[in-house]
Amino acid sequence: MPLVNNLDAPVLWFTGLSGAGKSTIASGVLKILQHRGVAVEALDGDEIRNELSPDLGFSKADRDLQVSRLGYLALLLSRNSVVVLVSAISPYRESRDKALSRSPRSFEIYVHADLEVLVSRDTKGLYRKAIAGEITGLTGYDDPYEAPINPDLVIDTAQTSIEDAIDAVLDLLDQEAQIDKSA
Ligand code: ADX
Repeated sequence: MPLVNNLDAPVLWFTGLSGAGKSTIASGVLKILQHRGVAVEALDGDEIRNELSPDLGFSKADRDLQVSRLGYLALLLSRNSVVVLVSAISPYRESRDKALSRSPRSFEIYVHADLEVLVSRDTKGLYRKAIAGEITGLTGYDDPYEAPINPDLVIDTAQTSIEDAIDAVLDLLDQEAQIDKSA
């Protein structure tokens, strides 16, 4: 673990299946932090794939590389005092842990909902396509997802409102800031 310096800002890493609510929660947190005047940036899996990873698909190697790119971007920003909100499925524990460990103040937030709930939401139509056999390798359906073993926060979005989820993340940040100040 690198030494914390006084410029390091927290990295909040939202992991979970497609449609679980990672980006929705992260964008709510983003707006509130911006309103508080905090320097903050959101790194969203879909957006980073469009901008920086058009070369990548959804094999294990490609997903690990995507997660590694996200971890490096998060490091560059966080070490310059920008709070980073990463939303990415990041299905493999080893690459996720490695990316998280690059930043000294990183927090793993597991955004969870049961597969039946995700299939019924299906905001992007991906689960319908997977069930119809039109696509393969959809995380949680026919591709692996390794849930965090000891996440800093678990949010079950079938049981928790978006407002409560955002509050829980802000509480985590506020608590950590107090611990950091007293350290
Ligand atoms: S990761 O697995 O490499 O971490 P990432 O979060 O960057 O995934 O991108 C996931 C997004 O890609 C999903 O939100 C979805 O819109 C899209 N996507 C397309 N095909 C798949 C697939 N087979 N599995 C997961 N996501 C997919």
